Amino acid sequence: MSKFYLTTSIYYVNAKPHVGHCYESTVADALARYHRLKGDEVYFLTGTDEHGQKVAKAAAEAGVSTQEFVDSVVKPSIDLWKTISISYDDFIRTTQERHIKVVQAVFTKLHEKGELFEAEYKGWYCASCEAFWPESQLEDGNCPDCKRPVEQITETNWFFRMSKYRDWLAGYIKEHKDFIRPESRKNEILSFLEQPLQDLCISRPKNRLEWGVEIPFAKDHVSYVWFDALINYISALGYAGDDAKFKKYWPADVQIVGKDIIRFHTVFWPIILHTLGIEPPKTVFAHGHWLDAKGRKMSKSVGNVVDPVEMISKYGPDPLRYFLLSEIPYGNDGLFSEAALVSRLNTDLANDIGNLLNRTLTMIEKYYGGKVPAPANTQDPGDAELKQMAAGLAAKMGAAMADLDFPRALAAIWELINKANKYIEVQAPWSLDKQGKKDRLSDVMYNLAEVLRITAIAVSPFIPASAQKMWEQSGMTEPLSKMRVTDIEKWGLVAPGTQVKKGAALFPRIDTKAK
Ligand code: MSP
Repeated sequence: MSKFYLTTSIYYVNAKPHVGHCYESTVADALARYHRLKGDEVYFLTGTDEHGQKVAKAAAEAGVSTQEFVDSVVKPSIDLWKTISISYDDFIRTTQERHIKVVQAVFTKLHEKGELFEAEYKGWYCASCEAFWPESQLEDGNCPDCKRPVEQITETNWFFRMSKYRDWLAGYIKEHKDFIRPESRKNEILSFLEQPLQDLCISRPKNRLEWGVEIPFAKDHVSYVWFDALINYISALGYAGDDAKFKKYWPADVQIVGKDIIRFHTVFWPIILHTLGIEPPKTVFAHGHWLDAKGRKMSKSVGNVVDPVEMISKYGPDPLRYFLLSEIPYGNDGLFSEAALVSRLNTDLANDIGNLLNRTLTMIEKYYGGKVPAPANTQDPGDAELKQMAAGLAAKMGAAMADLDFPRALAAIWELINKANKYIEVQAPWSLDKQGKKDRLSDVMYNLAEVLRITAIAVSPFIPASAQKMWEQSGMTEPLSKMRVTDIEKWGLVAPGTQVKKGAALFPRIDTKAK
């Protein structure tokens, strides 16, 4: 059994999660569930990034204390993750004591190792946006964002000696082919590393920002939010304390992040770890962005977000998951369209998998009083083809999942579903019944019951709630969570006599003409 440590980025809490955040959690969840299916010992971490200016500002605007504000916004996101079946093993909040003490321990270690230094920081500051801007980005001496005048301020801060690790990092990336994926992101970072690397300012004076982790040896400063945030991946494992979990699970196997934050994760993060004497994660795998119809990234600041809660209330959680996973190859950007979601729901879900379940169970009820018949072992090329396709499914899924290619993994499952629907048409159980071909009929119905069992297991990482319903309606009594990839590979595990329990349609069709 191998361990599999998987993380998402930790989400800011200045706003509710939108469909883009849902995507990140859903891909990570599908991967976590797939690895559990493989029998791996999975540790799946997600959480919230609760410090920094953005959050302090949002709390001030809401007129409540910052702690009250973060507590109130974390709840709806936890509820959302529950609704879409995000099966995390741990949820870290950067305001938790367990995290703060690790961040402080890291500060102390780096300080003792001589990796930090104090220096004057001079820059153009916009008081309204609470942000520093490089001179080159100013617009007529004004803030490029809010267009108000900026002021030059000088303050003392703490810096991390990152610049001297540039060559080490470039070498590391080249030697570790899987460290940055996909390839395009690796090339982006390698070309970024052709320029000199700046030392990183990792503190903020409290007189400007109080909401952060206090630096143990500089109590008038708090940590820069990104420095604090990155450490969540090891603080959750108890690094620098009771670290049995850390020893077991680190290095992370896959860290899922959006392409906008790849530099933090593949430049700052490995260098921080390296200076601590810790191995970098095995893979940082960046995904693309969901865009609006105008091609702009979905984000709160643009004001073009799609609310996942609304999509779920209209179509259910699994159709949203299925759409997000199947619509775009991991790594690419995608256009979010409700019409495209409905179309996938009506075709792939209602027509293909929903109908397969419904027709098969209806026929088992009609011809066998709801009990799966024993196979009679007649010979038919159609049976052999179906079995062969099922036997190859696990390998195809495995290859696709190693590349986080969710559309390809789903396509392999849908190939079997579509084959089974075709098999029903070709074998025509209704005529076998009419013609009294009892042996053929029992083989056909047994084979279809097998496809239902295999399909329910195979789709369980992607649409877990529907997989569970499918499993129960097919009469399976062992817990679905106990099934493994090997149960997809084997044929003949449905016990003859299994009592099916047809229930409500898995995916009711959405009427697109009404309105
Ligand atoms: N808090 C930081 C991450 C710290 S990790 C140590 C952050 N938070 S975020 O809430 O702004 O973004 C969280 C994740 O959501 C990022 O990986 C980001 O790429 C992803 N997404 C935000 N908008 C998105 C889309 N429109 N589409 C897909 N993913 C999107 O950055």
